[in-house]
Amino acid sequence: MRDFLKALPKAELHLHIEGTLEPELMMALAERNGVRLPYASVEEVRAAYDFSDLQSFLDLYFQGMSVLRTAQDFEDLAMDYFRRAADEGVVHVELHVDPQAHLARGVELATVMEGLGRARRRAERELDLSTAMILAFLRDRPAEEALDLLERAAPYWETLDAVGLDSAEVGNPPAKFAEAFRRASALGLARVAHAGEEGPPDYIREALDVLDVCRVDHGVRCLEDPTLVARLRDEAMVLTVCPLSNLRLRVVERLEDHPLPAMLEAGLNLTLNSDDPAYFGGGMLDNFLACRRAFGWSREVFLGLASNAIEAAFMSEARRAELR
Ligand code: ADE
Ligand code: ZN
Repeated sequence: MRDFLKALPKAELHLHIEGTLEPELMMALAERNGVRLPYASVEEVRAAYDFSDLQSFLDLYFQGMSVLRTAQDFEDLAMDYFRRAADEGVVHVELHVDPQAHLARGVELATVMEGLGRARRRAERELDLSTAMILAFLRDRPAEEALDLLERAAPYWETLDAVGLDSAEVGNPPAKFAEAFRRASALGLARVAHAGEEGPPDYIREALDVLDVCRVDHGVRCLEDPTLVARLRDEAMVLTVCPLSNLRLRVVERLEDHPLPAMLEAGLNLTLNSDDPAYFGGGMLDNFLACRRAFGWSREVFLGLASNAIEAAFMSEARRAELR
């Protein structure tokens, strides 16, 4: 089964590029850039990754990315991940990027976008890996800041596929970002949003109704609302579910308790993703393998999930035809 899951062409629709920063690269970049970290070794970094909820993770995620200073750092970060992903049979990666977190510590948008842009072009050329980019708004920051970011990103609009919404969910409902998402729509960008990870089912409904998203990131709390589940099924709304993330952030205590099998049973349009692989103990293949262990799914189930991701991906029709 491992060989089958590894060879299965996988598209990753929910990944934060800053969440791919492995402790080894974090330490190397800290050294290269003279950034002080509160860790003496790679082992200490890993030992610190014991999360109680989303916020406890976000605190370390924002601290970790402080080592990223130059365009070369962003290129190295993304290439490091693209190589690992390609080794696991990933054929397409869509990266969320959090520019506000970088701007807040004095790293220019051009630095981030040029480094990531170089890595994306190399991935295509060197690894036959297609990529897409999602400009994410930090939902615990003011709505005006999101709008400002979108305007500042004008030189890069051509390189973007969508806008997204991430960071601390509870208390920051999707409707807060109605205007930024309207503007993104007017620019021809697709919309996705994290909803129903820790937040209530109503946030999922709001992401659909107010932000007009084409995909919901996580969405696992939808099961608490049968009317919403029926709507998600009828609309074939794509949910980008991240099993190991949910486990490590204590959305569930054991993977065996995860709502994925019930969501599958309900006929939802599901995909499997890694979210922040460096922090949650595994990439795409590890997430697929963990589901195999916890749920005993057949090859057909995994073929269906992988196919859902290819169909929902931001990619050219020529690339989609090649991967089908
Ligand atoms: N930013 C990075 N990972 C995230 C997650 N799982 N939820 C919300 N924001 C995030
Ligand atoms: Zn996420």
